[in-house]
Amino acid sequence: QHSSSSIHVASATSNVTRELADIDWDNLGFGFMPTDYMYVMKCSQGENFSEGQLQRFGNIELSPSAGILNYGQGLFEGLKAYRKHDGNILLFRPEENALRLRMGAERMCMPSPTVDQFVEAVRDTVLANEKWIPPPGKGSMYIRPLLMGSGAVLGLAPAPEYTFLIYVSPVGNYFKEGLAPINLVVETEMHRATPGGTGGVKTIGNYAPVLKAQSAAKAKGYSDVLYLDSVHKRYLEEVSSCNVFVVKGNVITTPAITGTILPGITRKSIIDVARSQGFQVEERMVTVDELLDADEVFCTGTAVVISPVGSITYVGKRVSYGSSGVGLVSQQLYSALTRLQMGLTEDTMDWILE
Ligand code: COI
Repeated sequence: QHSSSSIHVASATSNVTRELADIDWDNLGFGFMPTDYMYVMKCSQGENFSEGQLQRFGNIELSPSAGILNYGQGLFEGLKAYRKHDGNILLFRPEENALRLRMGAERMCMPSPTVDQFVEAVRDTVLANEKWIPPPGKGSMYIRPLLMGSGAVLGLAPAPEYTFLIYVSPVGNYFKEGLAPINLVVETEMHRATPGGTGGVKTIGNYAPVLKAQSAAKAKGYSDVLYLDSVHKRYLEEVSSCNVFVVKGNVITTPAITGTILPGITRKSIIDVARSQGFQVEERMVTVDELLDADEVFCTGTAVVISPVGSITYVGKRVSYGSSGVGLVSQQLYSALTRLQMGLTEDTMDWILE
């Protein structure tokens, strides 16, 4: 008989050996760095999450038959905490991540924490690991909530037990280019999502399938891949790990949320920031032709923040944007968003949790 309690912290691996002094805060990339504590909360199928706890960070034990390992019943989230010059710590729109997780959980037949439980758990985990938040301006603490079917199954069915877990890691720039423009290639054979599938929720299964095209692109010197829709093969979807925006004059366009596009929280925030700055923002189907004819292109994501695109290659044709450096609109939006996230401008949108 399998225990329904199929996850625990393995004490032998919970000792974190990395010291703060080892970290080169000026050169943080986006790599995993273990911190001190993680948050764990469990519940059975058909029940609600009630109480979780902080534990020493360490490996977890799962039944080989866990729903997440066998059938991919899992979701993840990503959000960031920033340290301000006055010592306060800021969270950027954590309720939005909680709501997105709840939406994804419904799609994946999983129970999920309430918005309050999620935000409290994020806050507790960040505070317990506070010393790992980079100094102001050096990066942020990336917060990775996971929701998984941790109970054992054999036949295809929702798992009998669920685990909500949060770990954190200090991070800097996502792309090795830093803020320098990235070079993307449009993928014409493989697709990220299909109508009726799960492209619109943050299920773990959306991510490994992009690795093949991504590695092929990287081997050819590109930074990443831009996917097209799987039906017409001519409308933009998103980049492997972020949303995409196209700028033409005063109009900024991004693929609409139709079920195959991940509803990014940075995407949503940039739409609001851009509108507040007088840009016309359109959420609709965007063709490859519009992409190739754009003045500027940029990507948005929690990990990526805003990444300007320097060039796009589509069936062997390379189009470059601007003469060099970061486009003006990308620069302007990057600055407005990051100043808000770091607590450097007044939070008129009420997006910051201090
Ligand atoms: C994020 O931007 O937070 C994501 O979840 C993307 C991930 C592939 C790093």
